[in-house]
Amino acid sequence: MSASGSKLWGGRFDRPPDEVFYEFQRSFPFDQRLLLYELRVNRAWSRAIRKAGLLSEAEADLILTALDQIQARAQKDRGWVQGSDAEDVHHFVESALVELIGPTGWKVHTGRSRNDLVATDFRLFVRDAVAATRGAVMQLIAALIEQADHHSGVPMPGMTHLQHAQPILFAHFLLAHAEGFFRDLDRLEAARDAAAECPLGAAALAGTAFGIDRAALAHELGFERPTANSLDSISARDFALDYLYALSVIATHLSRLAEDMVLFASSEFAFVTPGDEHSTGSSIMPQKKNPDAWELIRGKTASASSALFGLLTTLKGLPTGYQRDLQEDKEPLFAAHDQTLAALTVAAGAIASMQVNEPRLREAAADPALLATEAADFLVRRGLPFRQAHEVVGKIVREAERAGQSWTSLPLEKLRTFSPLFDESVQRALSADAALAARSVEGGTAPARVREAIARCRERLADLEVDA
Ligand code: ARG
Repeated sequence: MSASGSKLWGGRFDRPPDEVFYEFQRSFPFDQRLLLYELRVNRAWSRAIRKAGLLSEAEADLILTALDQIQARAQKDRGWVQGSDAEDVHHFVESALVELIGPTGWKVHTGRSRNDLVATDFRLFVRDAVAATRGAVMQLIAALIEQADHHSGVPMPGMTHLQHAQPILFAHFLLAHAEGFFRDLDRLEAARDAAAECPLGAAALAGTAFGIDRAALAHELGFERPTANSLDSISARDFALDYLYALSVIATHLSRLAEDMVLFASSEFAFVTPGDEHSTGSSIMPQKKNPDAWELIRGKTASASSALFGLLTTLKGLPTGYQRDLQEDKEPLFAAHDQTLAALTVAAGAIASMQVNEPRLREAAADPALLATEAADFLVRRGLPFRQAHEVVGKIVREAERAGQSWTSLPLEKLRTFSPLFDESVQRALSADAALAARSVEGGTAPARVREAIARCRERLADLEVDA
């Protein structure tokens, strides 16, 4: 099919477009991805204009059958689609229709515009894309919960400023990441809601001049309702921004998880060993096993955040109405969607395949420095104001450091020279287990709380699966 021979416009032109410019303005190389949506929208529109008396029953049947044939051929013969020189996906379908059934094919464009078509197709894409991403986020959460459950009693050094701070459970750390991804599911829902209104019937900008039941059309296509304002319908890309924002936050969460995993896989930490399935070797250093899965996940964050900033920039200066700049909305969103979806799937696999080095985590969690707060809390429970308790323990730690000793191994008599409030029970308070058990506040890292949290996360996930 030589699509450029039958353009969607041209009556008012004396000369054909410059070849370089024609290529420059084509969107079919990327918007062919919307083909199935375009066909679905064409079916719904044909029925709507049939109901409005603009097509005869026979014409509508002819068009609907031809649309099915186009779909069947496109699915079988990728070369037919990819090799087409159509201007865009709307042009491709119209040309294919006319080729199959002659001038009746042109009737389907009655009362509409590519402006409301593309806005409708793209929203349908985003609604399906949200569902796919949601599924992948849920898979990753499930993988985090599984590992948390497997290693539920294992402590690790909790860190702030990347310095040893207080003991926490490794499971608590994994569930911290899961919480972020749970919030991502809410953001995805919001993005799906933002694409819940159907622009079809807005036509070029002012609304169609024919008697179309827009509400019925919206429902037929799976939208909740028609858009409220025809001009806004064809100008707005908020739904794309909302999805890109949701993707950007997911990518940022993935990147932070990746950063933790790259650090934890280093020989300095050695908290985890990435699974062979998710590692690569070095072409020169035979000993190396690199956490490339996580590095690439971290690297691909840029795809989502740059698409968000790109579209914000595209939209910023546009006058109201359709402007051709809007064609630039699709490619970056497709890329951001593809990369983030792939990154989520790889992350879920890499979490599941990693080995957790429990002895190493326990050893790191036994660092006495992690227990300084426990000693201060001990003094507070005996009545000393926290600020003074902090000061006392700081002095103990400093003196032990100078003597080249671990402060937790100082005898009780020595501790009592810093504060008479210390007694025999202090030794019991100064262990990672005691520190963990003390943090039984809601949301804390005490083992009993973390076991509850694992169960609750499982329930939340199961509820979401039912909703999906
Ligand atoms: N390919 C165009 C896009 O993606 C379709 C809409 C064209 N509309 C127009 N008035 N030229 O935005």
